[in-house]
Amino acid sequence: MREKRFNLASRLLHWAITFTFLYILLTVFLRMGWMNKGSVGTIIHDNLAEQNVVITNDAAATIGKKVRRPMWETHIIAGYIMVGLFVLRIILTWVQGMGFANPLKKGISQYDKFKSWVYIVFYLLLGAALFTGMMKELGPRSIGHIMEDIHVQSLYFAIPFIVLHTFGVLIADAGKERGIISKIISGDRPIE
Ligand code: HEM
Ligand code: HEM
Repeated sequence: MREKRFNLASRLLHWAITFTFLYILLTVFLRMGWMNKGSVGTIIHDNLAEQNVVITNDAAATIGKKVRRPMWETHIIAGYIMVGLFVLRIILTWVQGMGFANPLKKGISQYDKFKSWVYIVFYLLLGAALFTGMMKELGPRSIGHIMEDIHVQSLYFAIPFIVLHTFGVLIADAGKERGIISKIISGDRPIE
């Protein structure tokens, strides 16, 4: 039986969500690491000091922040793209039904139940990350801080999900669900 989880729309959406999600995480890691305003500020501060130009650490960090800004703006653009993909995912699920087993249905194996819950929790937490990110950008200033505090916790679901999902599909592909990785790439139409 051909499955809707591997039809063209589901596959395109899976990979669009994957690449956008990974890009968003890349911007977060750049912000935390290489392009951290403090580290860039220190480089600016120390190099200017070698030329006998003295600026405060705060002024150097502000320059660091401005250097980072164009990169960081793409976090927000990719975030809006993700909102669009999330809405498409909801519409597609509405139109063609769930791409994975309903975990509340009777007679479903423990394995399918676990897999479905992981995907459902992922989508719920993704929805929360998108909502809080948008509220921080577009919502009233009074709730900006609380939205930000919740939003920045997103890494706590993003990283565990990627690790679990990657190992999960690799193990499934090697045994129980042989060929699913090629199916999520090229579909499950039998070769003619
Ligand atoms: C950040 C990266 C990724 C995210 C966020 C992600 C997300 C998801 C989600 C939510 C599903 C459930 C079905 C759906 O909603 O489309 C899924 C299914 C699937 N993904 Fe990924 N994925 C990622 C990376 C990958 C990679 C790198 C591979 C291949 C090595 C892969 C292979 C699969 C397969 C084979 C399925 C279908 C298997 C099943 O139904 O259990 N995914 N993915
Ligand atoms: C997959 C979805 C998203 C994930 C996983 C995510 C993750 C993160 C993380 C981990 C941070 C903290 C970075 C740090 O403190 O170094 C952050 C910051 C931020 N995100 Fe997102 N984000 C997502 C979507 C969005 C969206 C949709 C928007 C807005 C439209 C957005 C706007 C922001 C803003 C403005 C900040 C900076 C908060 C601050 O000033 O500290 N994000 N995001």
